[in-house]
Amino acid sequence: MAKKGGRLADKTFTINEKILIHLKESPPLRDSMDAPHALTQHGISESVGIRINHVSRAMKSLRKDGFVDEVSGRVRGEVRKRKVYTLTDSGLSKSQKIIKKVASKKVLLRKGKTSKELTVEDALDRMGKTTTTTLLRLVDSEGVVDVSAGKKAEDLTTFSKGLPKEEPFYGRKGEMAVLEEWLESRKERILSLAGDRGMGKTSLVLHAYHEWIPRRNSFWFSFQEWETGASFLEALSDFFKDMGRTNLKSHLKVGKKIDLWEVSGSVERDLGEGKNVLILDEYPSGGKENETLLVTIMEAIARVEDTKMLITQSARSVPNRREYLARGVLAEMDLLGLDKKSCEQLLSRKISASEFDKIYRLTEGNPLHVKLMEAGKLEELIDTKDYTSEELALLKYMKIIKESK
Ligand SMILES: Nc1ncnc2c1ncn2[C@@H]1O[C@H](COP(=O)(O)OP(=O)(O)O)[C@@H](O)[C@H]1O
Ligand SMILES: [Mg+2]
Repeated sequence: MAKKGGRLADKTFTINEKILIHLKESPPLRDSMDAPHALTQHGISESVGIRINHVSRAMKSLRKDGFVDEVSGRVRGEVRKRKVYTLTDSGLSKSQKIIKKVASKKVLLRKGKTSKELTVEDALDRMGKTTTTTLLRLVDSEGVVDVSAGKKAEDLTTFSKGLPKEEPFYGRKGEMAVLEEWLESRKERILSLAGDRGMGKTSLVLHAYHEWIPRRNSFWFSFQEWETGASFLEALSDFFKDMGRTNLKSHLKVGKKIDLWEVSGSVERDLGEGKNVLILDEYPSGGKENETLLVTIMEAIARVEDTKMLITQSARSVPNRREYLARGVLAEMDLLGLDKKSCEQLLSRKISASEFDKIYRLTEGNPLHVKLMEAGKLEELIDTKDYTSEELALLKYMKIIKESK
C-alpha cells in the first residue's frame, strides 16, 4: 500500500486496465440486437482515447486472461454486425479493484489559472458526472487534469458511415505533417486531396482521422456507389443530432421538399462554433447534383469559424475551384507515389533489390498496384501493350512467386 495516494499520470494504468474500467462504466449489454456503441471496438477506442488497432490487440489479451467475453451484436443505426465486449465475473471484480486503486490516487485539477490537488474521487465529484474513463483520458503525464473551458474533450462527437477498417500504414510522414498543419491553421477551411485510384488517399485520410478524433467532432462519410446526396445529408444530420443540434434534421423531415439554400443555412447553424472536421472520402466527380450539393456544403463551411473539411477524389472536380482558391477557402494537395521503403513493407515476402527496383519503377509507388503486382493480378489492370517485354517478364515472375507460395 506504499503507492497509495501517489499522483496519477496518463501511463499509471495500462491500456488493458483502462479498457476494463471503461467496460465497467458502460451501459450493460441487455440485448445483443441492440448493443451499446460503447461496447464495440470503436466505442472503446473513442472513450479510452486509444487507436482502434490497439483496442483489437488488447481485447485479444483480455479474452485470453478470461476478463472479457466477445459476442457478435448489432448496434443501433448500423447495418453490419459488430464485435461487442462484456466483462466476465472475474473481469468485473478485477475492474472494481482497479477503479478503487485509481480513486485513491491524486491529480491536479486545473481550471483556468487555478489548480488544486485532489484525490481522483474528489476530482470526479467536482467534474460533475464524469467517469473514471474520461478522467484517465484527460490526465497528462504530470497528473494534471485540465477542465478549463474549451478543453472539454469529453464532449466530442464522432460519426462515421462506411469507415474502412484500419490496415497497417507505412510512410507518408510528410503528407501527415501537411494535413496536420492544415487542420490546425486558421487558413483554408477546405482541403481537396486528389490522387490516382490506389495511391493511398483513403488510407492516408483514415490515418489522419483516427489522430483527430480526440481533438475535434469528427465526421466520416465514404461515397460508395449506393450512397446518394440524400443519404449523405441524412448522415450529416445524424452527426449534428449526436452533438445536440437538429436544424438540418428538422429540415430533412419526411415530406418536406429539400431546399439547398436552406440546407446550407441549417448546416451552418449546426456546425456553429464547434471544432469540427468533416471527411468526405471519394466524393463523386462531375454531375450537376453532386456539384450543387458540394457547393451548398462548402458555402456553409466558408461561413463558420472552426470547421475543416477534407475531400478526396481520384480526379479533382471541385466546383468553382478557382473562385474558392482565390477566396482562400480551398487548398489543394496531390497525392503522389509512396516512398520506396514503405512500398517494400507492403510486400508479404522479401524479394531481391533489383526485382523490387523494377516493381517500384513500374508501379510508380502506387500501393494498390504494388499489392496487385505481388498477388500476380496486375495484368488484369494493365494494357499489356504499354509494357516492354522485360516488364512483362517481371509480371510473369511475380505471378510465379504467387503460385509457388
Ligand atoms: N501508406 C500506406 N501504407 C500501407 N498500405 C497502404 C498505404 N497507402 C495505401 N495502402 C494500401 O494500398 C491500397 C490502396 O489504398 P487506398 O487508400 O484504398 O487508395 P485510394 O483511396 O487512393 O484509392 C489499400 O490496400 C491500402 O491498404
Ligand atoms: Mg479510396
